[in-house]
Amino acid sequence: MTKATNITWHDSTVTKLERHAQNGHRSCVLWFTGLSGSGKSTIANAVSNELFRQRINEYVLDGDNIRHGLNKDLGFSEQDRTENIRRIGEVAKLFVDSGKVVTTAFISPFRSDRDQVRELFEAGEFIEVFVDCPLEECERRDPKQLYVKARRGEIKDFTGIDSPYEAPDKPEITIHSDQLSVEEAVEQVLTYLRDENII
Ligand code: ADX
Repeated sequence: MTKATNITWHDSTVTKLERHAQNGHRSCVLWFTGLSGSGKSTIANAVSNELFRQRINEYVLDGDNIRHGLNKDLGFSEQDRTENIRRIGEVAKLFVDSGKVVTTAFISPFRSDRDQVRELFEAGEFIEVFVDCPLEECERRDPKQLYVKARRGEIKDFTGIDSPYEAPDKPEITIHSDQLSVEEAVEQVLTYLRDENII
């Protein structure tokens, strides 16, 4: 719900299409979703690095970083996660409007939250990237030692342990991160972007 009244939406004078023309590529959001430890951040950052190398206008919105700033008032209840994803969706929309290829790396465990974000975008702009890695493998990796804490009951509502993860029904891209190298995963995403004539 909008609280403010007497506000008007101003379209920027330079249009998104003009930005695309100047950049030489279209803009979109690569929305990575998956369990903690699945490789979302690693792959999203590697994709962005490669795009940068190719002189493509890119930016990464990463889970832990956003939670230090914009969303530091939010925790991990269902309600807070929904608000986390809603705000990031709005930020991603601004970046897409600015002409960038934006990668986001958030667990975003709820299907309805991701679908709401998809609704913000024009057809083809929202690219859901499911980083599909079995829970056992994420738990074996446990890079931040959070699964071990969750199992001990020291972290509540941990995704995959005592809070659900709803896998996407029809993601544009599925990355089996337990079977691919980071380089191979990056190539899979870049191939998609080329095939869709985004870059
Ligand atoms: S989301 O569910 O709202 O999308 P987000 O991606 O922003 O989550 O943050 C997840 C990161 O927060 C994890 O990678 C982990 O480092 C940390 N974290 C801390 N507590 C939890 C928790 N209860 N569940 C999941 N991740 C948590």
